[in-house]
Amino acid sequence: MTNVILCGGSGTRLWPVSRENLPKQFLKMFDGKSLFQLTVERNRKYSNKFVLVSNENQYFMALDQLDEIKLEDYISIIEPIGRNTAASIAFAAFSVDEEEVLFVTPSDHLIKDDEHYEKAIKAAYEEAKKGYLITFGITPNAPKTGYGYIKVKNCNNDICDVESFKEKPDEKTAKKYLEEGNYYWNSGMFMFKAGVYLNELKKYAPDIYEAVKNACKHIKKRDFMRIKKEDMLEIRDESIDYAVMEHSKKIKMVKSDIDWKDVGDFDALYEVLPKDENGNTKNEKLLALNSKNNLVFGRYKKQIAINDIDDMIIVDTPTALLVTKRGNGQKVKDIVKVLKKIN
Ligand code: GDD
Ligand code: MG
Repeated sequence: MTNVILCGGSGTRLWPVSRENLPKQFLKMFDGKSLFQLTVERNRKYSNKFVLVSNENQYFMALDQLDEIKLEDYISIIEPIGRNTAASIAFAAFSVDEEEVLFVTPSDHLIKDDEHYEKAIKAAYEEAKKGYLITFGITPNAPKTGYGYIKVKNCNNDICDVESFKEKPDEKTAKKYLEEGNYYWNSGMFMFKAGVYLNELKKYAPDIYEAVKNACKHIKKRDFMRIKKEDMLEIRDESIDYAVMEHSKKIKMVKSDIDWKDVGDFDALYEVLPKDENGNTKNEKLLALNSKNNLVFGRYKKQIAINDIDDMIIVDTPTALLVTKRGNGQKVKDIVKVLKKIN
């Protein structure tokens, strides 16, 4: 099995950290390791090949981090600009044999490598070999709008038929799903044969399929694919979720009790970061007086002091400062939208 590691997203919900070519997956926040490194280490047990799909700005950082954990053999796919996951996964699929089973994983999730993870992967592998597109379902505990929702029917052991897949519903719809039951969050990890994915992409997003195929034409070595910018610009920006998963009739979901966290916004980041006795995220440059439960992030050796504030998100970078309330994590992407308009 080949583990495809996606690590080229720009992550607007983590602005301004995400604009520094140092997205969260490369920050060494977990016992000196990054989420990216933890992802590779976790999946090493199950995969004999790796495909790294990254952005050219982050490629060397990814390489250095792979060096540190001694992963030497992998296929590199380098994108000059991001065109979202439908295309990134297609590049990976074109880089291997069509019968190869791909385990596609984001690199910004915090997952415990326990018996539930192992069980889910093994069950998924059996189904993927039969020609299905496999998603991993997580039992939802809140009407989150940042996830895909999978409605299932006919579960046999942990393998369920998928009735429908809805990517990022609005809050009202998400609440309805939770009340109805039988809905799971899409974990953002997928497993399928390379050829099966490409066929489904061709069926439901033929323009993306053709544009990616065309971009691959110029590439001689399949183990090092540097995509040309002019070819990349021809590709429609769309996620696998909208392009394929919402339409495909070949999806099966593995129901799992994986200990999974998508560290997709600052609220999620707050949950997983180490905190001091007052609930402020640990930061040796932080002086916190009479303040609790704040996420304060600054990597630049600058003294930060807070006084009398609770439940805030404060993120300092050399070129921007973000101050917002905890609970507003998903709204950070709105800031980016407005900034793009006025700058
Ligand atoms: N190489 C590359 N190029 N990687 C990309 C690109 C790209 O253009 N765009 C995104 N990625 C990577 C991101 O870095 C991340 O690791 C992964 O692909 C998924 O992209 P996100 O942008 O994080 O997706 P999401 O979190 O909004 O939604 C997905 O994940 C949710 C669970 O975390 C969807 O699959 C949802 O359905 C799912 O619930
Ligand atoms: Mg994500």
